[in-house]
Amino acid sequence: MKRLVVLISGNGSNLQAILDACQQGRIKANVVAVFSNRADAFGLERARAGGIAAHALSATHYASREAFDHQLMAEIDEYKPDLVVLAGYMRILSPAFVAHYHDRLLNIHPSLLPKYPGLHTHRQAIENGDSEHGTSVHFVTDELDGGPVILQAKVPVFADDSEEDVTARVQHQEHAIYPLVISWFVDERLIMRDNAAWLDGQRLPAQGYAGD
Ligand code: GAR
Repeated sequence: MKRLVVLISGNGSNLQAILDACQQGRIKANVVAVFSNRADAFGLERARAGGIAAHALSATHYASREAFDHQLMAEIDEYKPDLVVLAGYMRILSPAFVAHYHDRLLNIHPSLLPKYPGLHTHRQAIENGDSEHGTSVHFVTDELDGGPVILQAKVPVFADDSEEDVTARVQHQEHAIYPLVISWFVDERLIMRDNAAWLDGQRLPAQGYAGD
């Protein structure tokens, strides 16, 4: 069985979707550890409830981003992961971290990348009057939220939507597409090569699989 390490900062609903998919055999892998940069992240409780090692590392104890990431890498590597999954991990990664897990580091970002990298994506979509919004799973590179997209899911945005409405609609899609993409990687159907995502030997277009 392949080994997954998941990094979180908060609620961990995507982590839960991944744990459920592993349990149900939709992902043929085990989550062997969960790390958070916040000790109060509810996702750590979810991990413990699933009998999974749960660790918190506080950045305040480290002199620099590089020092924090160095320690995080050392602790992650004790679990010998085949894949490192960022699931609502809200810290910028150092270049050394990205390089170390190159080709085996996935992220989910709540927008239709390349639109809205960074924070407050749902608010921006509403404020700009967008009629559609969504989420993207991508390989991580040094460019913030800029690595090759693997799969996106779109949701409608309605005129009277609140930020909470849009967030819930997007997260519902995230819980479907992230486990699916992870299963592709675990089944060795998905790789990153030449700064692109490849599925079943086909180079995926900029919007990922099934662009529309
Ligand atoms: C998710 O919606 C994810 O797309 C987003 O954080 C949320 C975490 O929710 N990630 C980012 O914004 C990364 N820049 P969760 O903790 O319930 O999975």
